[in-house]
Amino acid sequence: MDTLIRMDLADETATEALARALAAIARPGDVLALRGALGAGKTTFARAFIHARDRAHGGPGDEEVPSPTFTLVQTYELKGGTVYHFDLFRIETPDETHELGIDDALADGISLIEWPERLGRRLPARRLEIALSAGTRPQSRRATLAGGDAWHRRLKEINLV
Ligand SMILES: Nc1ncnc2c1ncn2[C@@H]1O[C@H](COP(=O)(O)OP(=O)(O)OP(=O)(O)O)[C@@H](O)[C@H]1O
Ligand SMILES: [Mg+2]
Repeated sequence: MDTLIRMDLADETATEALARALAAIARPGDVLALRGALGAGKTTFARAFIHARDRAHGGPGDEEVPSPTFTLVQTYELKGGTVYHFDLFRIETPDETHELGIDDALADGISLIEWPERLGRRLPARRLEIALSAGTRPQSRRATLAGGDAWHRRLKEINLV
């Protein structure tokens, strides 16, 4: 997995703009692994992504996007296809995710996964990794995107790399 780009996200709006840019090129079967500590901004990213995805396909883009901390997964049936939002923080072993039906979700929808490290080797190699970490100010973040050649090409198409 190669690092594709590192960027500074000056504030929440910048995090949302990155989410919108990726929502525009995402397609069924894509897996976005959202890494970062508690409060890094993973759910904030996911919310903006889901809203953008809905709006791009003629929806209002105003759905509630709660953190799936306790439900483990929230499913959004959008016109542009299903988006699964996982939060695997409470998962203890990768095998537990099998019961969640995660393999089917990963294959047929767009999956946004918080705490993807919980999946261990079940995490698909084709994923785009988005790691969020603290920035120099309280409202800023550092984002590091990593992925294979296919993601490199796709990010190039939208001039992100
Ligand atoms: N640049 C930024 N990008 C994203 N969130 C930011 C930014 N600056 C401040 N924030 C704030 O940081 C918090 C991020 O919370 P969020 O729930 O998105 O984190 P999380 O990574 O999902 O945490 P958890 O691991 O607990 O699920 C929000 O309160 C958000 O308003
Ligand atoms: Mg979260």
